[in-house]
This record gives sequence, structure tokens and C-alpha cells, in this order.
Amino acid sequence: MGDGAVSELSRIALQRADLFRQQCFINGKWTGDPTHAVHNPATRGLIGHIPNLGRTEAEAAVAAAEAALPKWRAEPAAARAKILRRWNELMLKHQQDLARLMTAEQGKPLAEAMGEIAYAGSFLEWFGEEAKRVYGDTIPAPSSDRRIMVLKQPVGVVGAITPWNFPTAMITRKVGPGIAAGCTVVLKPSELTPYSALALAVLAEEAGLPPGVLNIVTGDAEPIGRVLTEDPRISKFTFTGSTPVGKKLAAQCAGTVKRVSLELGGNAPFLVFDDADIEAAVAGAIISKFRNTGQTCVCANRIYVQDGVYDQFARLLAEKAAALVAGDGLAGVTQQGPLINERALQKVEAHVADALGHGAKLLTGGARHANAGTFYQPTVLRDVAADALLTREETFGPVAGLVRFKTEEDALRLANNSRAGLAAYAFTRDLARSWRVSEGLEYGMVGMNTGLISTEVSPFGGVKESGIGREGSKYGLDEFLNIKAVFVQL
Ligand code: SIN
Repeated sequence: MGDGAVSELSRIALQRADLFRQQCFINGKWTGDPTHAVHNPATRGLIGHIPNLGRTEAEAAVAAAEAALPKWRAEPAAARAKILRRWNELMLKHQQDLARLMTAEQGKPLAEAMGEIAYAGSFLEWFGEEAKRVYGDTIPAPSSDRRIMVLKQPVGVVGAITPWNFPTAMITRKVGPGIAAGCTVVLKPSELTPYSALALAVLAEEAGLPPGVLNIVTGDAEPIGRVLTEDPRISKFTFTGSTPVGKKLAAQCAGTVKRVSLELGGNAPFLVFDDADIEAAVAGAIISKFRNTGQTCVCANRIYVQDGVYDQFARLLAEKAAALVAGDGLAGVTQQGPLINERALQKVEAHVADALGHGAKLLTGGARHANAGTFYQPTVLRDVAADALLTREETFGPVAGLVRFKTEEDALRLANNSRAGLAAYAFTRDLARSWRVSEGLEYGMVGMNTGLISTEVSPFGGVKESGIGREGSKYGLDEFLNIKAVFVQL
């Protein structure tokens, strides 16, 4: 470990130093040589290293998960719930440490990281409780000498790949229901944000999770991904990430016909009608667009504003965006962090340049920050062309592009003109319109008069090329359960 690592680690200032792990967690043991460097995107400083594992270690993790399965699935739901509840309590007890680790490796403001730890823990508690309510059915049989019952059983060993934008919550939103249902898991977290995942394993063990129920493997995405999608011992694969990668992984799952859940990219439309509460719409756009510096799958990506309120909305949004404080979340109170890496920064620059080239006008931002990290100024552009890159592709950065519309019909047509179908937002005070628009939007989630739609109790997921299946809520548990029909001849 060089000097840079020491200084980044000392800045994180963990109260519990053992939450920082530079090894993988397989079958309850810490393993692997830390060789792959992990950096803080706010400072570009070195935090530490993680193992660069491959096929052999991923297969060992699958074997551990397979061996742990019979005992874990036989546990009563209440016993599994108790461990999940304790795990959540430990996360909340060490919320500061977990949040500081997350801010260091992911870059998000500390307040957002604190919020994510609570959000992440809520999935453990929720699914632990829900597991006690995995009811079966009895079905009236077609003849009086037969009985038909429906049992729900854990799918088996789960393979999971999670992203860097929510380093903890995207893990617990998969692992929580999986473990609650009685499955065992092999998880590959993003190599950009591994320390949040590894700290979670420390607390899982402390909460009483038996060896092999949760295994975490860091390293080379290709061979590890192949094992998680192709190994016949894995019955279910779950992934959050980009649409192109999700399609490839889903295709790899076809060979062994796995259950698949995919939470993929979005391109969320955000509609503001003339009759909206404009202050509320601006606040909704700020939270939806600039949360996590624009790096969420449900971020508003195309902001459509009706003629009558267009100028007012544009002015107010630009004022609020310009006031957002960007900086290193470990160095002070911030509202915007860096983008995850240089590639993400270049994509944002390309989208802004393309929009300006197509006639958009810059209201605020529009450039990198002068500091060392991968920061881009919160940006608002007006009069963005309907076919600009900014409206066609997910930007994944702090850039709000405004497009004008005339009628409700136009707004719905523009909003639905995408192969993405994750989240959409609309602001209107007209009750009938709110129903028409909610029903007309071809998306898995609609925020009506709100820019924040994430909670453990509501189903999260998309339609079209934004994914398959749902996470969170009672529906999220079904993804980890098989239905078995039992016919009894009397
Ligand atoms: C995501 O970006 O995939 C998750 C966002 C959320 O849970 O709010």
C-alpha cells in the first residue's frame, strides 16, 4: 500500500477499521491477494486494492453457495428474518462508517451516502418480514377425489452482479429477498465500489449469516460473469447495469434456462404541464435529475415543458442548479459529487456539445470543474432538439435538457418515443390528466407530482428494454421463489 492509500484511508477515518476489507468473502473466509487498485473519483487518490479473481474462484464460490443451500432453505422464515433484522440494525449502527466508505469510493455526497445506507438496510428488514408471508394456495380441483396445492420454494443458488452507482442498496435489494426466500448467493459487486460490498459481508457475518449463504467475488467481469450466467448450479441470475451488458448476460443465461431479473438503463421523461405547481416541479426536477450527480437509472433525462410555463420553469431550474454545491464529500458539505470516471465525464461532455451543436442554449454550467476529480458542473440547457443525443440516450450525468411541447398528446408521444421504459415523471394539478398520463406512459414506474420514487415497499423495475422483473415490495420476493403445484389423488 503506498502513501496515497494511507492518506485516503485516513481521510475516511473509520471508527471500525475492520470494516475496510481488501479480500473477497467466500464460504465465510476472507481470501485473495489484493492486486487491483481502487481510487476515489473526487481526488483520484488511491484508496486500496482488491483481489482480481477469475473463473476458478467464482466456481469455488458457487460450490460454497450450493453446499450452504440445503440447510439455509430449511431454516424457518422467522430465523432468516431475525438475521436480516440484525444485519439491518448493524448497518444503521455503523451508518457513518459505511457512508464514509461509500463516499470515498463512489463520490456521492455524504448526506446521500447516509441516506443510501438507510435505504439499503430497509430492504433487509422488509424482505425478512415478507418472508414470513410466503403463502401458498389451495385450488378447487376439477374432481372431488383430487386436491391441488401450490407451494412456493426458494429458487436455489443466485448469481448477482451489481453496479457502482448505488454500491450498497443495489446489493441488499437483490441479496435481501434472495436470502429471505431461502436462497444462497454469489455476488460480484462493481470493481469501482467494492469496499461497500465487502463491509456489508463483515456485518452479515456478525449478524449470524452462516458461511456460504453470501459469497462475494471481486475481479475480472468476463470470466466471473460467465460463471454466474452459465454454471448449471446457479438457478437464478439478477443484474443491475446497462442495457447492452444486460442483453449479453441474459443471452448467456439462456443455455441453462435460468430465472432472470434485469434492472437496466432508463431514459426517463419528465413532463411539466401548464397547470403544474411550478415550484414543486422544479424541486422534483432537481431531485430526480441531480440526485447522485445524475447517475441513477431513474434520473430525469428528457425534460418536456409545456409552452405556457416553459420560460418560468427554465429560469427557476437554472437558478436552483447553479446553487448546487459540488465537491469532495469527505471534505465538506456538498450536494454534487464527481462522475464515476473519466469515461463518464467524456460522455457528458459529448452530450452537451451535441446539444449545443443542434441549437440548444446554455443556461448554467456546461464545463468541467477546475478541481482534480471527475466533476462536471450542474448544467441546464434549453431548446434542446428533440433528436439530440441528450434526449435519445441516457446521459448519466448532471445535465438537464429542456424541450418545449404544446399538447398533452405531444407530450405522451415524445415521452413514449424510446426503447427504454424504466421511470417517467409528470407534474400537473389536473386530477383527470394525472390519471390519463399515468396510464398512457409506457414505463414501469411513474412519479406523479414527485421526483423521488424509490422505497423498499414499492416495485422497482422497467418495461421494454429497461428490464425484466421487479425489485423491492412484495413482488420482489416472488423473483426468488419457484411455484410448485402438488396434485393429490385421494
Ligand atoms: C438505480 O439507479 O438503478 C437505482 C435507483 C434507486 O433505487 O433509486
